[in-house]
Amino acid sequence: MSNPLAKMVSQKWHPPAPTTESFAGKTILATGATAGLGLEAAKKLAGLRVSKLIITARSHSKGQRAQQEIETFSRAGSTPPAETHAPTTEVIPLILDMSTFAGVQKFAQTLKETVSRLDGAILNAGTLQSQ
Ligand SMILES: NC(=O)c1ccc[n+]([C@@H]2O[C@H](COP(=O)([O-])OP(=O)(O)OC[C@H]3O[C@@H](n4cnc5c(N)ncnc54)[C@H](OP(=O)(O)O)[C@@H]3O)[C@@H](O)[C@H]2O)c1
Repeated sequence: MSNPLAKMVSQKWHPPAPTTESFAGKTILATGATAGLGLEAAKKLAGLRVSKLIITARSHSKGQRAQQEIETFSRAGSTPPAETHAPTTEVIPLILDMSTFAGVQKFAQTLKETVSRLDGAILNAGTLQSQ
């Protein structure tokens, strides 16, 4: 189907099947993963056996709470094929406050010190500035 609008309408009624591809060996960043869409995306990634999952929060307590929730979900719901011994997900919470540029720079520096590469990123944390 080459018409993008027709494809979009068609996918509303016939959504693509959820991916079951293994993410073992991958390092993925999910920002704003303490609640809402970011948390659900992080759980999905953990279920797909991402090796390292970097999540962000504005406080240590929120990051640790989300880490525990993702790890609990991962342990309870993981169903890797028995023949593959994929490693479990290591969830690493980091601090990110996007309300200031300094906060973004600090996060970028910490991220560089924490992992040597990223295979993917879900940049979900967003801010709405009134001015
Ligand atoms: N839900 C929808 O229907 C919808 C529709 C269109 C677009 N969106 C967009 O999708 C994204 C997620 O929406 P949501 O409904 O899942 O949001 P949510 O439940 O309110 O979660 C927001 C997440 O972003 C983080 N966050 C908030 N302000 C931040 C900041 N200044 N710096 C860094 N992180 C911050 C929060 O982290 P803390 O734990 O630190 O608070 C939390 O993890 C947003 O960008 C939103 O604009 C959502």
